[in-house]
Amino acid sequence: MVRLGTGELYPKLYPSKMMKDVFVKLSQTVTSLNYLEPLGLLELREILSEKLKNKGIQCKPSNILITSGSLQALQLISVSILKQGLTIYTEAPSYIKSLQVFQSVGMQLLGINMDHEGIQYWKIAKERKNIEDAILYTIPTFHNPTGIVMSADRRRELFKFCIDNRIPVIEDDAYGDIWLENEPPKPLKSMDEHGMIIYLGTISKVLAPGLRIGWLVGSESIVNRLGDVKMQTDYGASSVSQWILKEVLCNTNYDQYLKETKIALKNRRDLMISALDKYFKELAVWETPKGGFYIWLVLKREISMEKLFQAAIKEGILLNIGSSYDFNKNNALRLSYSYIDEKDIIDNIKKLSILVRNLTKNSLFEVK
Ligand SMILES: Cc1ncc(COP(=O)(O)O)c(C=O)c1O
Repeated sequence: MVRLGTGELYPKLYPSKMMKDVFVKLSQTVTSLNYLEPLGLLELREILSEKLKNKGIQCKPSNILITSGSLQALQLISVSILKQGLTIYTEAPSYIKSLQVFQSVGMQLLGINMDHEGIQYWKIAKERKNIEDAILYTIPTFHNPTGIVMSADRRRELFKFCIDNRIPVIEDDAYGDIWLENEPPKPLKSMDEHGMIIYLGTISKVLAPGLRIGWLVGSESIVNRLGDVKMQTDYGASSVSQWILKEVLCNTNYDQYLKETKIALKNRRDLMISALDKYFKELAVWETPKGGFYIWLVLKREISMEKLFQAAIKEGILLNIGSSYDFNKNNALRLSYSYIDEKDIIDNIKKLSILVRNLTKNSLFEVK
């Protein structure tokens, strides 16, 4: 099965030699796998706090909590510091829409439209009339699923808006390091002198989701509170994974690995864009992402996405249907160039275009 929407790196991009060296070294140096500090391995938090400085985020190791991926960070936040019934503003569409966790603890999700520069934050004001308790969850950089990067101006305006309106922010930067052309604007967190923003990072997208390691950056009081809840939940993220990541970041040529991975992703992105140019011109619209994994493909005519999904399965293609990320029905697909072999891209985009064309023939409606 070719996975045309999966948000992971293609297995062949796994750096086997680098990781083998890490495992050999750790087998010689780690002398105990006991529980670690409540906030996570200190050496790992130290190297992360150094690396975050390059993004303009000034924080101490005591401002960082190591989590079992960003997903756990979101769960910890929602069960322990957010009030029941609170409203979460978020981009529409959004990754968070595909998560049940927020709704399951009684949060209301409210989708706010985006333009080319990111979330149209001024629309929050309209929605806000009867809403007292609210936060904003945003993915400003290489947004999932649209790939949009929030401009530097929009970041400044959004941050000011959130301060003026006392709206705390969760900034999810899962894709921030995966820029394929120019470095994106600094995270919102780099402007945060008020402790308004909880920042989330993860190693899942750049290296290995199976390590289940992410990091949350916030004020010491929030980090300690979430650290307590995490201890009560699972007594800390895997110590093996934490040692592995510390070793990767401190003692390997990780920067070179990242550079090579981004070249491989850029090649895949370029191939997918040229295949879309060739086969989808009359069928859909899309933007070329400057980083991350995704192309948001919006079909020009309304077709049954369920039928498209089933027809694609028969052709050996697994699709990610856009409605799982959106608040309203849509006519979009989240394509991903990360989890596909270069040689499979053109053929599968062509196959997909044939399926869409066949279903479009029966479609009466053009999406405006
Ligand atoms: C925006 C975003 N945040 C978080 C995650 C989950 O990351 P993790 O594996 O660290 O839980 C994903 C995974 O798709 C994502 O796209």
